[in-house]
Amino acid sequence: MKKPKIITIDGPAASGKTTIAKLLAKSLGYCLLESGAFYRLVTYLLLKHNLYEKFIQKNLNLIETLSKLFSSVKINLTAEATQIFYEGREIKSELREIQVEERVSVVASIPEVREFIKDFLRKLVNNRLVVAEGRDMGSVVFKDAEVKVFLTADERIRAERRYKEKTEKESLPYTQVMDSLKKRDQLDSTRKVAPLTVPEGALILDTSELTPKEVLTKILHHLEKV
Ligand code: CDP
Repeated sequence: MKKPKIITIDGPAASGKTTIAKLLAKSLGYCLLESGAFYRLVTYLLLKHNLYEKFIQKNLNLIETLSKLFSSVKINLTAEATQIFYEGREIKSELREIQVEERVSVVASIPEVREFIKDFLRKLVNNRLVVAEGRDMGSVVFKDAEVKVFLTADERIRAERRYKEKTEKESLPYTQVMDSLKKRDQLDSTRKVAPLTVPEGALILDTSELTPKEVLTKILHHLEKV
């Protein structure tokens, strides 16, 4: 099997990207790059510093603000996770909170944010072997990747998966989870810069009726052929 430097996995919310990317990174000994975490981090930091409204209304210098916030950010990439530290403290569950979830797609639609994160991710990866998952990994950020995967799944199944995941930690109404997922999908697919699309040459897999192991097997099989 040829060893590609970068494998990209794109797809809508709860299509299985993170689960599959993690399994794949582990089985190949690659680093896992969860790109959504960076958009969540920007959203979290803006809320934490009470800058969210000003930022989305562009009432401050966006790039300067992002550079300042990210000067206290450190990243550690492993096969298991993209670990994010802010001012020395790991930020994890904070990124999945509903107030971040409901605003992240608005933040991710701002061109300056996308440009900043794109540069940041490219520098971060440098020469490492990575499985990069997100919405624009194969279509924009790592356009030259030799192997690209696009995961999809039925909307109802995706909402159920996300609901299960969320209600393990907090109690939320199903409709709120479903609405937030739908809204994000809508925003992510229609934004002007880097909308969610199937990258050219990607292996498309519908994960609605597949177990994570079955998806992994299909990707490994595909890797043997490229
Ligand atoms: O896990 P899930 O797919 O629900 O979300 P995520 O991967 O953590 O991404 C959160 C949000 O970040 C998405 O809804 C997008 O708005 C944004 N995102 C993006 O714009 N581009 C990426 N490559 C990854 C995430």
